[in-house]
Amino acid sequence: MKLKVLRMLIEAEGYLSGQRICEALGVSRTAVWKAVNELKEEGYVIESVSNKGYRLLEEPKDFLSREALECHMQTSELGRRVYFYDKIDSTNLEAKRLAEAGAVNGAVVFAREQSAGKGRRGKSWSSPPDCNVYMSLLLRPRIEPEHASCLTLVAALGVCRGIRELTGLEAQIKWPNDIVVKEHKVCGILTEMNLEADYIRYVLVGIGVNVNVWEFPKELREIAGSLCLAAGRSVDRRELAAEILLWLEHYYEIFLRTEDLSGLLEEYQRSLVNVNRTVRLLKGDRELLGVAQGIAEDGGLLVQTGHGVEKVVSGEVSVRGLYGYV
Ligand code: BTN
Repeated sequence: MKLKVLRMLIEAEGYLSGQRICEALGVSRTAVWKAVNELKEEGYVIESVSNKGYRLLEEPKDFLSREALECHMQTSELGRRVYFYDKIDSTNLEAKRLAEAGAVNGAVVFAREQSAGKGRRGKSWSSPPDCNVYMSLLLRPRIEPEHASCLTLVAALGVCRGIRELTGLEAQIKWPNDIVVKEHKVCGILTEMNLEADYIRYVLVGIGVNVNVWEFPKELREIAGSLCLAAGRSVDRRELAAEILLWLEHYYEIFLRTEDLSGLLEEYQRSLVNVNRTVRLLKGDRELLGVAQGIAEDGGLLVQTGHGVEKVVSGEVSVRGLYGYV
């Protein structure tokens, strides 16, 4: 209801009479008045003038709520069902619970804060309140399980393009699942799958973007970065989340046509920070040095080593630059 009133106010040019809202939504004047007051409490500046109606003057800056996120979505399926929490253990854990309870393909879980944010390899993901994007997308793709590992790369491409389009920053992908800006990690992606023997029940794509963090602890400064530090201004998280999902949906549709990355190779290659750089691959206790060439259609990283070109499969290794993180 609140969301519907907000949509009407955003779309209206000028004043919108209470009567028109009542008729369009089939609700009482009191219900409209209540919804408008709730929106005002969230920081929307709404003018009400007798005989004219309501007019939206200002939206709260960077305020995350289900309504605000849904209003910004431009996708057809992904992100059309939003689950929103002020605080949750982990959006990936919640997305898993919702998936088990039957949530639909494309549902997305957002939180203002995570108390047990999960990173890759059992690490934790620092998730302070009200400055970053923590979201998990639920997908139910009808593809062969062996093709599902490409989804991390598809998501990375979506995040990378979303950041570029919204901020103008030169975001790049550090294979397979980090996004870097100016050589610092601004986003991590954690993909988790639930597979039956021969089919995928669901895939969770957890995306954590450092957006409006102006300072990192000393020990993280070498590696971690944020969009505001790179851009020199704060970035609207609602617009960012919507832009990321828009591009993720675009690339996801292309991926589904072939179930591999053949339609995305060129674009991926252009965004890949590792190309022509020496990478150190840590595989268990084995270390391999080589020069990254690009990726294969199945998402593996092609690395020129002393013994020829080796294909490295994501999930197997940790990738580091020779002198640092990239
Ligand atoms: C990494 O280790 O680089 C992956 C980090 C992924 C963090 C995101 S934040 C939203 C989602 N919920 C989680 O608990 N983790 C992912």
